[in-house]
Amino acid sequence: VQSSPSQLQVFLDIATEAALCAGAVLQTHWGKLENIREKGRPGDLVTEADKAAEGAVLEVLRRHVPDHSILAEESGQFDNAQSNYLWAIDPLDGTTNYAHQYPFFAVSIGLLIDGVPQVGVVFDPIHNQLFRAAKGLGATCNRQPIRVSQTADLEKSLLVTGFAYDRRQTFDTNYREFCHLTHLTQGVRRDGAAALDLAYVACGHLDGYWERGLSTWDIAAGIVLVEEAGGKVTAYDRTPFDLASGRILATNGHLHNALSHELMTMKSP
Ligand code: IPD
Ligand code: CA
Ligand code: CA
Ligand code: CA
Repeated sequence: VQSSPSQLQVFLDIATEAALCAGAVLQTHWGKLENIREKGRPGDLVTEADKAAEGAVLEVLRRHVPDHSILAEESGQFDNAQSNYLWAIDPLDGTTNYAHQYPFFAVSIGLLIDGVPQVGVVFDPIHNQLFRAAKGLGATCNRQPIRVSQTADLEKSLLVTGFAYDRRQTFDTNYREFCHLTHLTQGVRRDGAAALDLAYVACGHLDGYWERGLSTWDIAAGIVLVEEAGGKVTAYDRTPFDLASGRILATNGHLHNALSHELMTMKSP
């Protein structure tokens, strides 16, 4: 289905309402967690804040778009086979940071239309930064337009990556990539919240981001932010991005070929 700009704007406003509600929930629980559990894998945490924030998002979506499908990190998938719309919700991206009171986390809400991310909102309640974008409508932070950086040399770039909870996914690969790119750039950050990593690429704080082992809810919103801010999102090898692969390369565009080349050709140390 083709959504008109005015329809996308309506969805963007619904996503914003939901993200602000969830952000208020995260503010309430900040520093006061009583229930931190592991979800199976060591280090993969869930808290009462994740669940309460997700409840707040679901309440807003059920009120405005009850017939759309939903994929939410903590409560799973609710499918409406008739619907072309899928909301991908990460109520708290950066749970480990949040649990340790490291102030880098966000609510992430993306809308996929026929499988393609087209609306994205990422809200960082601690720094009160609201990142929003919709296909063809541009990207903003606190309602001011944002653009990716102009950095065109890897040697002058600041990058970011992340490591999946499943260490087997990253042990031989991302640590190697992390070391390799640390030597070639001005630095590689590991901030621990994929949605915010992408938002920071979109607004030019960071020049590029790569990661593997991601879920749709981690990146659906951030992809729209980066693309609408003038950046580029593909697979590592620059073929079209595939959400199901869990792998993403997102850059300001100028660094895309160089970073892809390093990821594809680097040798073991
Ligand atoms: C995690 C964060 C982290 C990334 C992990 C994600 P969560 O999400 O985005 O940066 O490296 O792969 O699972 O569990 O904090 O929502
Ligand atoms: Ca996440
Ligand atoms: Ca989460
Ligand atoms: Ca999680």
